[in-house]
Amino acid sequence: MRKPIIAGNWKMHLTVPEARELVDGILPQISGKTDVEVIVAPVFTALGAMAERLKGTNIRLAAQNMHWEVKGAFTGEVSPVMLKDIGCEYVILGHSERRQFFGDTDETVNLKVKSALAHGLKVILCIGESLEERNTGVTFKVLEKQLSGGLKDVALENVTIAYEPIWAIGTGVTATDEQANEAHEFVRSWLRLNYGADDANGVRILYGGSVKPENVDGLMAQPEIDGALVGGASMKADSFARLVNFKK
Ligand code: PGA
Repeated sequence: MRKPIIAGNWKMHLTVPEARELVDGILPQISGKTDVEVIVAPVFTALGAMAERLKGTNIRLAAQNMHWEVKGAFTGEVSPVMLKDIGCEYVILGHSERRQFFGDTDETVNLKVKSALAHGLKVILCIGESLEERNTGVTFKVLEKQLSGGLKDVALENVTIAYEPIWAIGTGVTATDEQANEAHEFVRSWLRLNYGADDANGVRILYGGSVKPENVDGLMAQPEIDGALVGGASMKADSFARLVNFKK
């Protein structure tokens, strides 16, 4: 049995007081919840405060990115050792916004994945096709390239995959339950082929892209959808709590 994950990606939002207020609103609504793994990913500057606030709660802490080196002359970057040091358990890597705006490639994402795992961080590796790629019928090709590139020389332990079609991120347009499940099936079959059934069956595959209270139950009812990576709807306490309390 794969334990579902509901993860909030706060992107470049929320100051420390705002993040505190949000978490204070979420926690009472999910107290005692142990059958879902709940994760939030604040901006770097709020990680320390959130690590303190979340101690002893059922919300785990993730960073949204990192550099693969441990330290050095890399102005503006943050290393896996620093993320561990401040209390992160997870790191999101290869988000499409990083690939689109900050030059992340399958090669650099792979360096980050390997370094994160080597330093004891769990990885949420994001993959997903653009609208043009979907419309020209190359979705699976794109996913395969991102999987084989991002996971080169990587064992699957502590790896979660997030399938996030770019056309569904922040647009209000969600993939249909079937479209999402079909892509997840492809990811699972690729993992089976490359790692064997035992390892592949243990990997959580999250869906991301305009997940909200209105569509979470349908998505989570799909057999291959093991959770959600959520932007917009994760930054309102009631809606994020509703996602965590999705109905089976
Ligand atoms: P969204 O973002 O839920 O706002 O579409 C998802 C993501 O980018 O992880």
